[in-house]
Amino acid sequence: MSDAPKTLWVLHGPNLDRLGRREPEIYGHQTLADVDAACTDLAASLGFTLVAHQSAHEGALIGWLYEAADTGAAGVVINPGGYTHTSVALRDAIAGIDVPVVEVHLSNVHAREPFRHVTLTGAVCVGTISGLGVEGYLAALRYLAGRPG
Ligand code: DQA
Repeated sequence: MSDAPKTLWVLHGPNLDRLGRREPEIYGHQTLADVDAACTDLAASLGFTLVAHQSAHEGALIGWLYEAADTGAAGVVINPGGYTHTSVALRDAIAGIDVPVVEVHLSNVHAREPFRHVTLTGAVCVGTISGLGVEGYLAALRYLAGRPG
């Protein structure tokens, strides 16, 4: 058994660094720092170290997915933002790793514009959570922490 800390990862895509200021009627008033703090606290209470990153760049998100996989992460929660609906490259990266990935959206993408109803990335995740706000991230982390390794 390795004594390396067990990690859970949270990856946020484009525009999520603007949480709290960005369309708060849709995305709420909590900032990205608030979300990451809540995730860090929950992960710690479940015995995991949280690694959290945000980027507007597809390549950075893909690199972190591979890093999570190559370092033996227990799971990844990803909110790909707008890339959800467009990125074949992100989808292929998720499909190509062994780590379980849960897709989370703060808003209910199915109740919004038709272009948001298609999620290229969700189809290769173990599950998706949409519309539960920050609670969606926490539910995803609880699920991943409890999944048999
Ligand atoms: C989002 C939904 C996406 O459609 C949108 O492009 C985002 C945020 C959400 O968390 O609700 O950037 O992923």
